[in-house]
Amino acid sequence: MTHVLGDTSSDGVPLVLLHGFPLDHRMWLDAAAHVQGRPIHVPDLLGAAARARDLPEPSIEASADAVAAALDAAGVRAAAVAGLSMGGYVALALAERRPDLVAALALLDTKSTADTEEARANRLRIADAAESGATVDPVRPMAQTLVGPTTRETRPEKSEQIAAWIDEQDPAGVGWSQRAMAARPDRTHVLEAFTGPVLVLVGAEDDITPLAGAEHMAAAARDAVLVVVPGAGHMSALEQPAAVGAALEDLARRADARR
Ligand code: MLT
Repeated sequence: MTHVLGDTSSDGVPLVLLHGFPLDHRMWLDAAAHVQGRPIHVPDLLGAAARARDLPEPSIEASADAVAAALDAAGVRAAAVAGLSMGGYVALALAERRPDLVAALALLDTKSTADTEEARANRLRIADAAESGATVDPVRPMAQTLVGPTTRETRPEKSEQIAAWIDEQDPAGVGWSQRAMAARPDRTHVLEAFTGPVLVLVGAEDDITPLAGAEHMAAAARDAVLVVVPGAGHMSALEQPAAVGAALEDLARRADARR
């Protein structure tokens, strides 16, 4: 399911916003409200609540192919594609599999490398627990850990919102996404080969995908701008939507200028 927002009559390069785990398109709505003058496509990825049935074998590639199919169906020819965390894994897979669709790339609070063996084993443990117990309990603590200390202390309603969204997810979809992420390869080479403009953005308080991973991606890309957002953890788009919206608008304008 794809939600289309923004100025749908504009001929500016469309923006596509791919959400993180274990959430859905709603995590992007605040930041999208700060982007003017272009259509904004906000799909629910495979595994999200609205798309947790009839799932293929878990893979980030399948998720990217579903985004490509939705963009094709919407008549999008090339877009500025932004992915936060899991959405970033999908954005890189999309750039690899359908480079024609990706005019610009924004990688927020994510990384281009694969998981360590330990992280992979942890994902599979969580997938097993979510599926066998038919519960989102194993990921509920993420409502606190996805945001940074500034948000936890000064805007607790953000964590409450994330908790409510997590409770609405489907345990089968949670398991699917964890298995898909566990299987993904290193895609730094995709970034190295990408010729369009790139934004790498990270919350200054993100300790899930910290600054070092962002610096690695910015160094790998040919034309990257690195933005560090103060007062934000891993959910930068939700924690500091105005700053993230401004950075995305700047990237989309760089894509407009290349047309
Ligand atoms: C996310 O926010 O999408 C997750 O933290 C991604 C991950 O578990 O790697």
